[in-house]
Amino acid sequence: MAYQVIARKWRPQTFREVVGQRHVTQTLANAIGQNRLAHAYIFCGTRGVGKTTTARILAKCLNCVNGPTAEPCNVCDACREITSGGSLDVLEIDAASNRGIDQIRELREMVRYAPASGRYKVVILDEAHQLTDEASNALLKTLEEPPEKVVFILATTEPEKLADTIKSRAQLFQFRSLTFQEIASALEHITKEENLEIEQGAIAVLARAAEGSLRDGLSLLEQAIAYSGDKITDAQVRELLGVVAEDVLDDLVEAIANHSAERALTLVQRLHAEGHNLQHFCREAIRHVRNLLVAKVSGADSPLIAAPEDERPRLEKQAAPFAEEDLTRFFQILLATDGDLRRKPDPRLHLELGLLRLVNAARLAPLEEVLAELRGESTARPAAARNPNPVRSVSAPAIPSSGYGGASEKKFQAAAASGAIENPRVPIVQGAVAEKAGPVPISAPRVIAKLAESQFSGLAAAQLESIQSALRNQQKFLWSMVEHASRWELQGSEMNLYFPPESRALAEMLQARDPMEKLRTVLSTVMGQPLRVCVKLDSSRSSVPRASEMRARFEEDPIVRAMLERFGGQISDVKRRSED
Ligand SMILES: Nc1ncnc2c1ncn2[C@@H]1O[C@H](COP(=O)(O)OP(=O)(O)O)[C@@H](O)[C@H]1O
Ligand SMILES: [Mg+2]
Ligand SMILES: [Zn+2]
Repeated sequence: MAYQVIARKWRPQTFREVVGQRHVTQTLANAIGQNRLAHAYIFCGTRGVGKTTTARILAKCLNCVNGPTAEPCNVCDACREITSGGSLDVLEIDAASNRGIDQIRELREMVRYAPASGRYKVVILDEAHQLTDEASNALLKTLEEPPEKVVFILATTEPEKLADTIKSRAQLFQFRSLTFQEIASALEHITKEENLEIEQGAIAVLARAAEGSLRDGLSLLEQAIAYSGDKITDAQVRELLGVVAEDVLDDLVEAIANHSAERALTLVQRLHAEGHNLQHFCREAIRHVRNLLVAKVSGADSPLIAAPEDERPRLEKQAAPFAEEDLTRFFQILLATDGDLRRKPDPRLHLELGLLRLVNAARLAPLEEVLAELRGESTARPAAARNPNPVRSVSAPAIPSSGYGGASEKKFQAAAASGAIENPRVPIVQGAVAEKAGPVPISAPRVIAKLAESQFSGLAAAQLESIQSALRNQQKFLWSMVEHASRWELQGSEMNLYFPPESRALAEMLQARDPMEKLRTVLSTVMGQPLRVCVKLDSSRSSVPRASEMRARFEEDPIVRAMLERFGGQISDVKRRSED
């Protein structure tokens, strides 16, 4: 038999073989069983998570000699034709290259003649969001008078770009990104079947680099085989992918724990000299710190950790010296650094800056001392007298607390109440004040992160508030991620969470099954109805000019800037005091 690339060879041929999309395959199987198939489906989700695969299996379910059946035989002519891609009943159209009206007209013609054999025609439109307006209108007409025995499957990575009229005529399935564990297990299974010898560490590196896409995982495996032959080691895979060795991450954590700016800078120097992609490194650092954070919050055996069994004790040990809020802050600083590395021209400088902020963030100075310093008062206490005990010192909120009373704000207040800070002064910066030039006459800056209510189209402020406080109280860690959403939108039974482009890494992490399921549970409970949750990137972020003006002024403000630098925070929103 001719050589087949692994991803193709291991394409699942039954619903049961599809990994991680049971919510889809089970629903489809039931619909077939009950003869209640829809005329059109939208399969959305990132690349390589099983959309096309599932569409083809559905085609087999319908056209198998035993069909319609949820368990196609895979040996009859119809099944075999579909598997080999040679079936006349299955039309696969790449909308990205067949965007025009002519193709859709042609398609409508083809579809008009229902298969004489009594079989189904299944039309798979890949990248369906790329259709032109004309073409999607023509498609809509077809969907409005759906021909007998034709099933449309629109696969897309960007469902929000599909016309609403089309969406309303189709049943939507959200394919989710696969977890580290799911990808690692699939790789393990396939390498075993292929008689490859592969180190556990190598599987872990591949599974992490796949970032939720099994196809990416398999393509990377393919590359690894080409590179190493049938014995694949951890070191080879790292070399191939330019992934830093685990000890570099260990080094980073040690530099932070020892407050060693020098070690942090040496680390960057080394990565640079070895030709590593600094952005990749930053993302690995994010994953690592996230693992540490999860180990801290939910224990080292949590399924949320993206690491194999034998690495977990190490994670637990590394997390030990840090407080949960330290790790949360490191996480946030690294996310911001990742954003900088994406947008800005000099990656090395930004990585250095990011790592220095990490090193400094770990050095907790008493808040009042920092504030005094920022206000330009000299502190009586020499640096050496800084309280080294994190219990007695107070770290300012890394991300400004939300207007609804963020967890860190509560901690701050608790610390103040317990006397951990003598003379606590809640720092405040107001829009009105920032308009004046010169020194700020009030106590000190506070960055207010109240999200404007207008951002929650379709969601009453009260509902949002209950959702947020439920998340904050029940799912602290999840909240630390969701908090970054710039927009919440409720559409029917679908909750869309939009993240700003710079929080892409965060949004991707959220898409894993566990956080998604937790989110869905909390949201459905609060809203009293089953909700689907979709995490999206906010490409259309626009703010009211006045607010953006005000924001720009804040961003220029030396005190605000000093605060942000110092605490590794970011301005979520700026609002006038009078609105409070
Ligand atoms: N959920 C999954 N279960 C099993 N294999 C998968 C899954 N998702 C992707 N794959 C692997 O990746 C390949 C490409 O998947 P495909 O269904 O074409 O992805 P998509 O259409 O979502 O981009 C498949 O042939 C299969 O080997
Ligand atoms: Mg596909
Ligand atoms: Zn069959």
